[in-house]
Amino acid sequence: MISWPSSVPTLMDGELMLRPWAESDMDSVFEICQDPTIQLLTTVPVPYERSTADDFFVHQARGFDLQDSISFAGIVNGEVVGSFALHHCIHFDHFCELGYWIAPDARGHGYAHLGAKLATSFAFSIGFRRVQAVTLPENVGSQKVLLKAGFEMETVLRQGMTRRDGTQTDAVMFAKFPEVIVEM
Ligand SMILES: CC(C)(COP(=O)(O)OP(=O)(O)OC[C@H]1O[C@@H](n2cnc3c(N)ncnc32)[C@H](O)[C@@H]1OP(=O)(O)O)[C@@H](O)C(=O)NCCC(=O)NCCS
Repeated sequence: MISWPSSVPTLMDGELMLRPWAESDMDSVFEICQDPTIQLLTTVPVPYERSTADDFFVHQARGFDLQDSISFAGIVNGEVVGSFALHHCIHFDHFCELGYWIAPDARGHGYAHLGAKLATSFAFSIGFRRVQAVTLPENVGSQKVLLKAGFEMETVLRQGMTRRDGTQTDAVMFAKFPEVIVEM
């Protein structure tokens, strides 16, 4: 069983804090999600309107209540630098999927792999036995992040993703496992 938390926790590694999203973060989310790289390499809605950020705030809270996802704001010095989410939480099989983005001006400081580690360790602490992450084949940056966060490259999912332009492409699957399986 997964021991679902009563609220989204706050996690720290150095200057990086993962905490629950606040409604007041949504102006930053709106601005950051205008980034063409985030729009190309993740599944954020495009175009990303101000109301899209408000919808995200509602959606992530509902995902938590439904025990389907746990979403974190990545914060450094009080500013939103990134987004981390454990989603597609499959309780029976004890696995979930990690997704993230980092604001363009906050990249290159290690926040992605540190946040990935924090979120994944938390997932293991509540009973998940596998955290997976899927990238586009050309998303070398994200693949490096995952390897640095202790994930292994597992396999290529043939025709496993659809690009923004509607074409189908292979996807690269990574996974990380707990050192000790927590039986709950
Ligand atoms: C990919 C992304 C999350 C990286 O964020 P970041 O905070 O800069 O990553 P980190 O600083 O933790 O980098 C970890 C390692 O990956 C490497 N790396 C990060 N981005 C890279 C890139 N675009 N190309 C090559 N290497 C990259 C870093 O150099 C670092 O390795 P090093 O310590 O050996 O130098 C960020 O560029 C981003 O948000 N991209 C758009 C959204 C996205 O791709 N999300 C993931 C979808 S699967």
